[in-house]
Amino acid sequence: MFETNSTEWRQGRSWSAVEADIDAGRARDTHWTSPMNFSASYFAGEDVASVAREAFVKHIGDNVTHRHGLHPSILRYEVEALDFVKQLLNAPGSAHATVTTGGSESLFLAMKAAREKARELKPEIVHPEILLTHTTYPVFNKAAHALGLKVRQIDSIVDYRADTDALEAAISENTIMMVGSAPPFPYGIVDPLEEMSRLAQQNDIWLHVDACIGGFVLPFAEALGRPVPSFDFRLPACQSMSVDFHKYGYAMRGCSAVILRDSDLARYQSFSSNAWPAGDYTSENMSGSRNAGPVASAWAVIAYLGYEGFLERMSKILEATDLLTAAINQIPGLYVHGEPQGIHFSFGSDELDMIAIGDALMANGWMMNLQTRPESLLLMLSVQHDAALVNRYATELAEVVMAVSDGRVARQGNEQAYGIY
Ligand SMILES: Cc1ncc(COP(=O)(O)O)c(C=O)c1O
Repeated sequence: MFETNSTEWRQGRSWSAVEADIDAGRARDTHWTSPMNFSASYFAGEDVASVAREAFVKHIGDNVTHRHGLHPSILRYEVEALDFVKQLLNAPGSAHATVTTGGSESLFLAMKAAREKARELKPEIVHPEILLTHTTYPVFNKAAHALGLKVRQIDSIVDYRADTDALEAAISENTIMMVGSAPPFPYGIVDPLEEMSRLAQQNDIWLHVDACIGGFVLPFAEALGRPVPSFDFRLPACQSMSVDFHKYGYAMRGCSAVILRDSDLARYQSFSSNAWPAGDYTSENMSGSRNAGPVASAWAVIAYLGYEGFLERMSKILEATDLLTAAINQIPGLYVHGEPQGIHFSFGSDELDMIAIGDALMANGWMMNLQTRPESLLLMLSVQHDAALVNRYATELAEVVMAVSDGRVARQGNEQAYGIY
């Protein structure tokens, strides 16, 4: 029984009325390409956004599930886009990769594969454990919950990176998997992955490297001659990686990849059933029907930019990041956490109220992420953050810092407003 007092929900409205309603709502949102938005936006310029959007719209009615029958063009996008990221991340020729709906699905599938492998090869482990660091993305915890894995979360850090001594001490006969991030969202600093790879190899543990953010950042930073620690399949124990097309691959949202070191591991990720009367069902994904728009946009951006195009955009964003970190470190009382290798980082203070600083900046229209341990602000850059914009932010930040030090500005208590988590 459908009960409502709303005439609008009962009788519907014209498209122009619906559109006006949408536009009124969006007018209050922050536009993702806004230069004042230092929250995750992954903007590479209006040309790239237009390529991603146009390709998405062309395939908006197509279902990835039917790529083998109805839409073979989607299969081509998948194969070629996956080939691009496999090369970026130095995956061996034997690697197996899958397009997913996002980083979260990629992490889940890597964990499922690790669990199934352990079930087959180490049946003596009844209560499998996964080792996570202080900064691993919370979806690893969510997936562990769903997959029945016990989480051992190592909270201690050294220079804002995972503490490998503590990780080593936490390894038990039940540990089947360890996760490092390249880089993690908090602090933006790559975990000590070489050391973690050594530990994983010594103890026969599956190492997953989460490069959802860094997969399209670090390869270019490295190619530009920047100091980037080993983070990809060149690490001998790295069994799987996650990399998001819809972050710095500039695709429209809904596209990521999970890469397994060897195609022999794919059967652990896959699921098959012939329990129903409509043919065998086999899937490497968690999701079922899904729009083909995201993978079309991922492929189109790669085809449009090419390796050189990505390199050129990343070079600009890295330069802007250098400018910004240097400017922040020059403001008395503030310092950037550690030495981030990519294009996002956090900064804090030993004496100033960072929440008050964030509140005052937000009142000026800036959008950022709030980090709680320690209280700090996290900035993620894209191409709209050029030198002029960075200087403007640094100038306003310095003014706000003065106001907070003088006691002219205090925290507003609106931490919720900061962001995405
Ligand atoms: C480091 C890291 N890994 C994984 C994810 C999950 O990605 P998604 O939001 O695409 O599911 C995120 C999301 O921000 C992330 O920052």
